[in-house]
Amino acid sequence: MVTSISPLTSKEVSDTTRRLNYGTWKFQKSWTPLHIVDAEGCHFIDGTGKRYLDFSAQLMCVNLGHKNAAVIEAIAEQARTLPYIAPGYATDVRANLSRLLLDVLPQGLEKFFFSTSGTEANEAAFKIARMYTGKTKIIARYRSYHGSTAGSVAATGDPRRWAMEPAWKGNGVIFSPEVNCYDCPIKHTYPGCGIACADYLEHMIENESDVAAVLVEPVVGTNGVLVPPPEYFPRLREICDRRNALLIADEVMSGWGRTGKWFATEHWNVTPDILVTAKGITSAYVPLGLTATTRKIADFFEDHLFAHGHTYEAHPMTLGPAIAAIHEMQRLKLVERSAELGPYLGEKLRDLAARHPSIGDVRGLGLFWAVELVKDRNTKQPLNTYAEKIEGKPLVVDQVAGAMMKEGVSIQAWVSHFVIAPPLIIEKSEIDFGVAALDRALEIADKSIGS
Ligand SMILES: Cc1ncc(COP(=O)(O)O)c(C=O)c1O
Repeated sequence: MVTSISPLTSKEVSDTTRRLNYGTWKFQKSWTPLHIVDAEGCHFIDGTGKRYLDFSAQLMCVNLGHKNAAVIEAIAEQARTLPYIAPGYATDVRANLSRLLLDVLPQGLEKFFFSTSGTEANEAAFKIARMYTGKTKIIARYRSYHGSTAGSVAATGDPRRWAMEPAWKGNGVIFSPEVNCYDCPIKHTYPGCGIACADYLEHMIENESDVAAVLVEPVVGTNGVLVPPPEYFPRLREICDRRNALLIADEVMSGWGRTGKWFATEHWNVTPDILVTAKGITSAYVPLGLTATTRKIADFFEDHLFAHGHTYEAHPMTLGPAIAAIHEMQRLKLVERSAELGPYLGEKLRDLAARHPSIGDVRGLGLFWAVELVKDRNTKQPLNTYAEKIEGKPLVVDQVAGAMMKEGVSIQAWVSHFVIAPPLIIEKSEIDFGVAALDRALEIADKSIGS
């Protein structure tokens, strides 16, 4: 018997969602999900008809903006042609997307494994690295996020890992200091430091043995858009080569034009051994993750078991839209657009820093920026801490984000900073609108520090 479903009010949709579903990364009592009914371009619309500027492209993923017609058509076309076939078969979409990836990925990444999320793409990378090297350990960094499944959360440096410890700790992951020139964890100052954080990483490899790979977000995403100094990546590449460890670049967030290049590693002319991505590959319209490796790694598996797979690997419904999304990025020149608009957005955010004492730092690249809030610019003490987030304490950044929502601007807030990463199709007038709302809402943060 089919249960008839009567239309619900917005409040009923929200209440039902809250009652019957889990809200991610939060105390459930603090979750009142907003009912969303539509989205177009850089905006989404709630059940009352109110429009919101999507200033962080949802989870830094809707790079093409909402309702791109070509991607929607590709989804429909793929559903008509071949909605599913097992991963052991070859399909047109699979061959065509793979050939296209050879054009847009950093040169040297030549063999692909498709999954359905960033976390799965990382899991594949870790298994490949371990099988290929015959070694176990992965060195990750504290200020990082790599996903929520067992391996990826174990490799996540931020506190989203804590709830799973100690049971999942024995995964061979160890943590090195992150590169953070604003608030260096080892209290050095760039450039006098000579990139000591990279040298320390080499010291770790030397003293650990059994290191299969070093895992980094080339530009750290959720944890504060940390852009490394120019020497860092070439040095890391050199260290990994010297110490026979693979370099894995997690470009789940930093890829697909977000930083003003197709992939962030291109800023430093470094090719990783394994590149992991997801999100912008389809502009998040359908769930697709990608793990790309060099030919050298690929060749190893000619005579060794590739011991990994999913029912949904190379799912045709995910691959067709990816082709369309990449073609749209090329047609609209969105990588170039991100590079061009980046300084405009950066300058506007720096202007805010001049007027709001609660802003400690503004940093970014392309259309990928963070505004970090502090209690005191001299001590750089954050307005709220990671521990407070995990304890469910009210955070100032959430109050600021709430005030912006009232004004029709959605922004991602995380612990003591905002990640501003709009769709790459954004117009200057929309940037102005978003920054103006942030400007007004920052009064809350200024007041909280007594200014
Ligand atoms: C750098 C990075 N890696 C991995 C992930 C996990 O991706 P997903 O949420 O698709 O599993 C994320 C998600 O935000 C991310 O930012």
